[in-house]
Amino acid sequence: MAAKTHLALLQEEPKGPLIVRSVPTVSPGKGQIQIKVKAASLNPIDYKQFAYAYVSDKFPYIGGGDLGGIVTQVGEGVTHVKEGDHVCNAVFNFIEPMSCSAFQEYSTCDANPAVKIPDTVSFSQAATIPITFYTALVGLCFPTLLNLRWPGDPFPTPNPTPILVWGAGSGIGRHCVQILKAANYSHIIATASPHRFNDVKSVGAKAVFNYQDADVVEQIQNYLGDEKLLYGYDAISTPASLVPLVKIISPGGTLATVTPQGQDILPFEGADIKRARTFLAVILKPEGRAFGRKCGEYLQKILEDGPYSFISYREFSGGLAGGGVQKGADMLRLNENHGDKIVIPDI
Ligand SMILES: NC(=O)c1ccc[n+]([C@@H]2O[C@H](COP(=O)([O-])OP(=O)(O)OC[C@H]3O[C@@H](n4cnc5c(N)ncnc54)[C@H](OP(=O)(O)O)[C@@H]3O)[C@@H](O)[C@H]2O)c1
Repeated sequence: MAAKTHLALLQEEPKGPLIVRSVPTVSPGKGQIQIKVKAASLNPIDYKQFAYAYVSDKFPYIGGGDLGGIVTQVGEGVTHVKEGDHVCNAVFNFIEPMSCSAFQEYSTCDANPAVKIPDTVSFSQAATIPITFYTALVGLCFPTLLNLRWPGDPFPTPNPTPILVWGAGSGIGRHCVQILKAANYSHIIATASPHRFNDVKSVGAKAVFNYQDADVVEQIQNYLGDEKLLYGYDAISTPASLVPLVKIISPGGTLATVTPQGQDILPFEGADIKRARTFLAVILKPEGRAFGRKCGEYLQKILEDGPYSFISYREFSGGLAGGGVQKGADMLRLNENHGDKIVIPDI
């Protein structure tokens, strides 16, 4: 009997064109599931890999880290999802085999971060969530990172400690604000472009500043007055965000970052401000798997019961062959998506 195959969108060589080709369909092993992908969304890592071979030297390369779909097979030991469940998942093709990636008809992936979605959530909506949500939650709550309140615990008393989220117009930053609000932090400060101010306030920020203002550092310092700022989450983590942040975070404070950039501005060791390097893939590693499952259970609960507010997104139709992945990657590279997720439905 001929081996099963399905279609994938792949790059055959570094920086090469994206083409649709048949690839083997893989059965799930221990701890894995197979998902019929229905929708996938793009993340910055996709354009970085397509354009600069940033993360992987494995070719043919299949991209995509966020997906929504239907479980078609369940591997040994997986109990929290079953065949037929509608799910979303974050997949990591730089750790897992390429058969996990989202830009293909079937993903065979680690089940740990997979979350059952209710009927009220579409596959496109589901595909906008996992990577940015989990990255926010890991940076905010993982014990070796900011180690802040867990949002699923009841905290009747608001916590007035100021916390700054830089880049709340990004997917990660907006999720940070939502999660902090759910943990009943009452003094969430954020930066974003003015067109995002109302949205960022609607999910929980008390004050929002325009990161493009030349005097944004002074504005935030004046706003804080004598109050210390001991917690920050830099959802951007480039020199453009780190330079102002090292002036705003108080000595002794901790800043969570999402890229390794700017070590000359804020080193990982030896500075007055501790740098908490957030690496989402920790949720697949032995030290982070239990935490990852806890994040998944929390996400499932808020998708079922609320509160959860979706990131705005644009759908590029035509499935894998429609050119939407390349168009979306170019938009992300040029920052022309203005914070919207790009979703490819109908895969
Ligand atoms: N460490 C990890 O494990 C991990 C995991 C996932 C992603 N990442 C990385 O995290 C970063 C953010 O990812 P994402 O998906 O959340 O990005 P995104 O949603 O594509 O964010 C883009 C938005 O960021 C805002 N922005 C851009 N430059 C800014 C600046 N200097 N200051 C403040 N805001 C700025 C803009 O929003 P406005 O509309 O407000 O201008 C822009 O629209 C990427 O570098 C990504 O590769 C890391």
